[in-house]
Amino acid sequence: MGVDRDQYSGGATSPSRGGNAVIEPDGVPLTLRSARWYEGTSRDNFIHRSWMKRGVPDDVFSGRPMIGICNSASELTPCNQHLDTIAEHVKRGIWESGGVPLEFPVMSLGETLVQPTTMLLRNLMAMDVEESLRANPLDGVVLLSGCDKTTPAMVMGAASVDIPAIMLTGGPMLTGRRNGVPLGSATDMWRMSEDVRAGRMEVEEFIGAESIMTRSAGHCNPMGTASTMAAMVEALGLTLPDSASIPAPDTRRLRLAHLTGRRIVQMVREDLRPSAVLTRAAFENAIRVLAAIGGSSNAVIHLLAMAGRVGVDLELDDFDRLGSHLPLLANLMPAGQYLMEDFFEAGGVPAVMAELDRLLDGDARAVTGKPIRDHWAGRRSWNRDVISTVDEPFANDAGLAVLRGNLCPSGAVVKPSAASPNLLVHRGPAVVFDDIESFKAQIDDPDLEVTAESVLVLRGCGPRGYPGMPEVGNMPLPVKLLEAGVTDMVRISDARMSGTAFGTTVLHTAPESSVGGPLALVRTGDIIELDVPRRTLNVLLDDDELARRRADWQESPPAFDRGWYRLYIDHVLQADRGCDMDFLSGPAGPW
Ligand code: FES
Repeated sequence: MGVDRDQYSGGATSPSRGGNAVIEPDGVPLTLRSARWYEGTSRDNFIHRSWMKRGVPDDVFSGRPMIGICNSASELTPCNQHLDTIAEHVKRGIWESGGVPLEFPVMSLGETLVQPTTMLLRNLMAMDVEESLRANPLDGVVLLSGCDKTTPAMVMGAASVDIPAIMLTGGPMLTGRRNGVPLGSATDMWRMSEDVRAGRMEVEEFIGAESIMTRSAGHCNPMGTASTMAAMVEALGLTLPDSASIPAPDTRRLRLAHLTGRRIVQMVREDLRPSAVLTRAAFENAIRVLAAIGGSSNAVIHLLAMAGRVGVDLELDDFDRLGSHLPLLANLMPAGQYLMEDFFEAGGVPAVMAELDRLLDGDARAVTGKPIRDHWAGRRSWNRDVISTVDEPFANDAGLAVLRGNLCPSGAVVKPSAASPNLLVHRGPAVVFDDIESFKAQIDDPDLEVTAESVLVLRGCGPRGYPGMPEVGNMPLPVKLLEAGVTDMVRISDARMSGTAFGTTVLHTAPESSVGGPLALVRTGDIIELDVPRRTLNVLLDDDELARRRADWQESPPAFDRGWYRLYIDHVLQADRGCDMDFLSGPAGPW
């Protein structure tokens, strides 16, 4: 796969001007941020150098860029466990180019283990990244991420500090096969668990798939949230080409790590910061790529939050305006058939961007310092079954649709490519659940009045109400309907949905019910009308009835009163604003 060996090396190191911290990139003097700690003869300078030396030669502290390697490796985050190995190869590139690598850990978020939901902690991890960068003598940073939230959290934190930053994601797992059939991590788990509930699969078979599904190091291998966010940061220009798709154990990822290490040193010399990469044009490119790859609905929230950190005025409606009419070019689970290993062999993100060429802004500047169109120059799909042409796509109008109506005045999203076409226009009676616990307690009750035409409504799962907006929007169907052969129903919530999941699920309904959004007013039996082509979602009640119900509604006190939970509940923004904290939006800088 064609990453040119020298293309991103940035050339030879400028010699240090020994004894001072000014280097000359292309003739332009640049004072290193780290010089504030290391340059001089004061007692503080002594302290800063002495404790860091530990065998390091003296000249390392003069004029050489100090490069942080912000590592989210953790044995509690299985998708990121291998990042320690990748970090070692990043270091080689940094040393080779004259920089000084300094690896440090940050909070890590493992999607499968963290309770109650990683989304509750994404902003906390972003704060950890931000303050770790700001507090330390770093001139640039390499961000190593993998599992779902680790990628946006790192970008958010680094964007706020705005020192030169480049990202390298850990890559997807290799494809596991059960009886010769590929298993998509998580996506096939959802399918198989429904098969068990419907009596179509034995529990022993289900458990037997555990080891097959997780075949190697790396993150989930469908186009779920981790793969989507890896593709988003590549499309934004925050990584070198192919970062998103090279499988985690492939040695070409180590080579990319080495090149990433080389490149960050040059980025410091060029003073190339996230604010120069994360422009409006870059976000518009990412939204278009998101549509073409059939990416996760979670990307909406993360891109909105990332844009907020650099002051780019991205709005929920931009996703519909820029992406909803675009064709689906990537035939990847959950919307399609293949997995990330196939995507890499077919050409990865550069092949998709090459196909979208005339729709993208190729002048947007990438971390290479060059126009991002250089990332896809000369690239094309090697397998049209996996990455198609715009003229012969796998589906039309594949991007996310943004809905409005009296149930979602601030918007809601639905992913038509993961939905059943016959349910995109639907009218049916609501079956309402006040929270996920009551949903679990009632959904398989044989006496529950529910049919295939019903609309399942789950509330109390928004950013403030849960808190943390968990991925429960793809509610399991009632077992009695599964046994009757029903495979999909319209489901509406203020929750999110795993990027590996599928179904006709309306998500991110805003404002959420816990702050008085209209979802709080719906009652079982009310008729709900979904019309995705017209972008509407309404409960068929007149304004007077809604006003009466609103007068009776009472806000519940927060369920948590201490620590991060309390801070989060008091300050988290709604889904249409990216669920960032209100006090973290907007550019900040390194100080
Ligand atoms: Fe980490 Fe899916 S659990 S990417």
